[in-house]
Amino acid sequence: MLSVAAALGIVVQASAAPTLVIDAAKPAGKVSPTLYGLMTEEINYSYDGGLYAELIRNRAFLDNSKDPVHWTAFQQGNGAATIALDSDQPLNDVIKTSLRVNITAASAHAPAGVANDGYWGIPVKPSTAYHVSFMAKAARGFSGHVTVSIVSDDGATVYAKTRGSRLSSDWKSYSVTLKTGKDAPATAKAKFVLSVDQPGTLWLSLVSLFPPTWENQPNGFRPDILQKLIDLNPKFLRFPGGNYLEGDTVETRFDWKKTIGPIDHRIGHPSPWGYRSTDGMGLMEFLRWCEDMNAEPVLAVYAGYSLKGQHVNPGPDLQPFVQDALDEIEYVAGPANSKWGAERAKDGHAKPFPLHYIEIGNEDWFDKSGSYDARFVQFSQAIRAKYPNLKLISTYDSYRPHGPNAKPDLFDDHYYRTVDEFLKDAGHYDKYDRSAPKIFVGEWAAHESSFPPWDRRSGALPPTPNMRAALGDAAWMAGLERNSDVVVMHCYAPLLVNINGRQWRPDLIGYDSMTSYGSPSYYAFRMFSTHVGDEILKGTVDNDSVFASVTRDTKKGIIYVKLVNPTADSQQLQIRIDGVDGLKGTAEAETLAADPEATNSISEPTKVVPVDTRVSDVKPSFTYTVAPSSVTVLQLHAK
Ligand code: AHR
Repeated sequence: MLSVAAALGIVVQASAAPTLVIDAAKPAGKVSPTLYGLMTEEINYSYDGGLYAELIRNRAFLDNSKDPVHWTAFQQGNGAATIALDSDQPLNDVIKTSLRVNITAASAHAPAGVANDGYWGIPVKPSTAYHVSFMAKAARGFSGHVTVSIVSDDGATVYAKTRGSRLSSDWKSYSVTLKTGKDAPATAKAKFVLSVDQPGTLWLSLVSLFPPTWENQPNGFRPDILQKLIDLNPKFLRFPGGNYLEGDTVETRFDWKKTIGPIDHRIGHPSPWGYRSTDGMGLMEFLRWCEDMNAEPVLAVYAGYSLKGQHVNPGPDLQPFVQDALDEIEYVAGPANSKWGAERAKDGHAKPFPLHYIEIGNEDWFDKSGSYDARFVQFSQAIRAKYPNLKLISTYDSYRPHGPNAKPDLFDDHYYRTVDEFLKDAGHYDKYDRSAPKIFVGEWAAHESSFPPWDRRSGALPPTPNMRAALGDAAWMAGLERNSDVVVMHCYAPLLVNINGRQWRPDLIGYDSMTSYGSPSYYAFRMFSTHVGDEILKGTVDNDSVFASVTRDTKKGIIYVKLVNPTADSQQLQIRIDGVDGLKGTAEAETLAADPEATNSISEPTKVVPVDTRVSDVKPSFTYTVAPSSVTVLQLHAK
């Protein structure tokens, strides 16, 4: 029989039913305990407009140096106001621009002020409390109250409203709670309004609106997105990039010292993905995020190369950057009585965070100056002298020692490939030289279109991948897991996308300001990362209609069999397990199966999701029907 994976265009020769032979007598290696993790950076509005729950866009009026973008004058009835950026009334020596609001006419019935449209709408939900805070001052003589509200786009419907205090002529901080009623609709067709009821001039800075956050943490995260990440059971979080670490220029790199402490001292910075970051998501927030997920940071330190080709010369020029990295490590993991550990304690976390891996740069194979060897040596010598137990990751794309006494512990490999390429190369690490350095696959993803992820022509496609891509992803992950004695960590990239603001596709999790959803690839990843043992068992399939990986949980006596069928036909897979005394007759199966073109979206968030079933007649040799276009995890139980 000739089985054609129609949508994939792959011809799979399956002359007989495939057989999977599992050798349970002798484990083939240990599964890396850190195998499944996450990679993150500010791209696709991952934090601002995403995980970082702030709802006001351009809250510090720094997004654009000429216009208060995302802010408009608000006026009702005869009320009238004009707004403009003002550098004569700085909030402090970091945030040097404020918003001047001239109220030329206003009364209790005809208020005037400013409105913000948020990240594609302010999300209104019933019975919800929002935390509002802002810095404000008024011209002398103004004694009006400020009212904050969330109103419909046309201003006709008020969803929540609170009258605040009177303003004074000095900068002061104000905070109030806004509550929607139980009958409020669920809608993002809304805006935030700050208004007054008498004429005058006022200045605003750091206008902030937070919905309920994860565990009600201040400056916190969107619970729906964070929960989806926790459900992936990640063991690490690679941050802050990616290109976001490097910046377009040295000046616009992720300069971690500017991202810590109170938010009124975070100026933010331009990101390489075409928009400005508030840095509300700063180093401490990344670390808290790790802690919330019970994952460890894989900290990428800026290593002197930026995307537009600038590099810092190794030697004295690079030394301040090396020192920054040492300080950063101390901030993350140093004792609370060290200089930077004390800063961390001041920022609310006296206990050091666990830290084992440091990545030096990102994709430094792009640095055509050839400076990476010497830069890596300079960083690694300094880091190893102070922190000999940290494992160092090189971002060069092929093995090289970099220099004397500077052998990287791991290399970070990146793969953005078509589904076909992943299927063809799923055994990439099967023949990897076991004496070579370990591998961190720090970015990977299958794209189902012919456009590579960064190609704007993919703009017509949904931001998240379809089932076909998930099949490529799962076959690839099976290869990584089979080889997790050398591939010690891996993570899909990018992780997050606001569906209204993407720069890259495909992405694992999509959202707008109201809700979020996981792509089929998200579910494939979740199935893999939540069902993994500690031992690799050799599992050999005799043809390429099914891809497999087998691990065993030695404590629970469970054998996890992962099966990926990318073809359009079901496969009668003969499974033979050698070296077990016996198996319980029933097993559990979790299966993600769908038309290859099917996908999830904001409007159909759970069209493609895994389904749990029980399998009977399980024996050391049995037949399992693997559904067409499917990813399956079987849990077999040793007797
Ligand atoms: O994941 C998107 C980008 O792809 C990353 O920022 C970069 O490291 C890679 O080129």
